[in-house]
Amino acid sequence: MRPLIGTGLKMNLTSSEAAAYFDALRPLVAPLTSCELFVLPPFTSVWVARDRLRDSNVAWGAQDVHPQDAGAHTGDVSASMLADLGCTFVEVGHSERRRDHGESDQLVAQKVHQVLRHHMTPIMCVGEPSPGSSEAALDHVLGQARAGMSMVPEQDRARVVIAYEPVWAIGEGAVAADPKFIGRVHRGLKELGARVIYGGSVDHVTAGPILAQAAVEGLFVGRAALDPKGFAAIAQLTSL
Ligand code: PGA
Repeated sequence: MRPLIGTGLKMNLTSSEAAAYFDALRPLVAPLTSCELFVLPPFTSVWVARDRLRDSNVAWGAQDVHPQDAGAHTGDVSASMLADLGCTFVEVGHSERRRDHGESDQLVAQKVHQVLRHHMTPIMCVGEPSPGSSEAALDHVLGQARAGMSMVPEQDRARVVIAYEPVWAIGEGAVAADPKFIGRVHRGLKELGARVIYGGSVDHVTAGPILAQAAVEGLFVGRAALDPKGFAAIAQLTSL
């Protein structure tokens, strides 16, 4: 399977900025056949992604979803609304949502289930809070991942993407985890039957050695992909 290279734009870019981003990214990655690509803009720009990325090799999706189909949930967005806008990926349980919105493993499990029900791919984020041994990290993330996949029937496990994102390796001032450490955690997570990608301070320098780990099936990029050239540079590494 080709590596999966994606970015979540977090709470960045207005819809007009997102349009410019997609217009810049599209030609940069158009020649690439060596990876699968996706972009997760804020909800306000999902329709822009549909308009600007249609018939391109970049899929789009959202950064969150409500676990129910419809109803009295002010401010929330349902899976059918996302599917209707052509989303194929939906991020669930990012550590910033667990932190800012108190999302539990139980809620993550319901969201993963809902995304699958609507024929999209959940990107389920897991990560240990602080640096330690790879055994301790694996223990923590296996617990999160098992809980998050508790509503996924055996035969659907391969439809899930687990994003291993050590919380301490995410965001401004952090550095990516060591590639061998990542490889060990991914090997352990592979037992759940999902695809496993890595996120946390990935840039065009750290991406190569991380991708070289056999159990790393893709990358989930934050800051380094806020510039379309940065995202394209990382994606291009898969063709070397
Ligand atoms: P970062 O974000 O690359 O800016 O560390 C990664 C993520 O949160 O997915």
